[in-house]
Amino acid sequence: MKPVTVSTLREMKRRGEKITCLTAYDYSFASLLDRAGVDMIMVGDSLGMVMQGHDTTLPVSVADMVYHSRCVARGVERALIVTDMPFMSYQESPQHAFASAGRLMQKGGAQVVKLEGGEPMAASVRFLVERGIPVCAHLGLTPQSVHQLGGYRVQGREATAAERIRHDAKVMQDAGASLLVLEAVPSELAKSITLDLEIPTIGIGAGPDCDGQVLVLHDMLGLYPRPSPKFSKNFMHGAASPEAAVKAYITAVKSGTFPGPEHSFHAP
Ligand code: KIV
Repeated sequence: MKPVTVSTLREMKRRGEKITCLTAYDYSFASLLDRAGVDMIMVGDSLGMVMQGHDTTLPVSVADMVYHSRCVARGVERALIVTDMPFMSYQESPQHAFASAGRLMQKGGAQVVKLEGGEPMAASVRFLVERGIPVCAHLGLTPQSVHQLGGYRVQGREATAAERIRHDAKVMQDAGASLLVLEAVPSELAKSITLDLEIPTIGIGAGPDCDGQVLVLHDMLGLYPRPSPKFSKNFMHGAASPEAAVKAYITAVKSGTFPGPEHSFHAP
């Protein structure tokens, strides 16, 4: 089994093969996702909500991310491991971001680190990339900014907000990001960004035209006790086991049947 790298994902974008990604936070689920054939595993700071029971991702620490990323890394042979940089671990300066990313890679087995934000984060992205750390950017609904955004709301519906996201996407690519997550944005905006960029886009609530899709594992297995977002789907419905649900997700993403119109947003 050849391990997936950022070059593999770029090649998949070039030939139009959809990239599959799910979050995982522990050894057993990571191993299940890897065996099922998921291309990327994201150790998201969503673990603050689905594993730790917080209302937001803000309380998650670098130590938490290192712990969960290390558990995931032990279960993975093929998928690319992308680990979130938590709130307060990178915003202060490029040097601070470098120190945090270094811990996630050295101690947590991360192969790519993900950070939220646009142009103000570009210097940090460049600083990491020039020092050999691959970066995944994250735009649109950035959960670490939930209080500034006024809730978990769709972003980029108005023309100026859409233009800002489009601009930030290009800035992140130019700063050296290898991947871009687009969360809760209108499908048309995600499509045009995906066509504009050379790097793969991974959508969550961003319509069917991104180069790949990601969901939070606990949402797509129906394990999270609170309401899941509209853009998610419970793949356990009709599945005989978690492994079958993950395989159904992979098939649906690869064939373009997920996300459907009921999981997508549009500009007014
Ligand atoms: O924290 C997370 O799990 C994420 C992805 C779902 C995009 O950021």
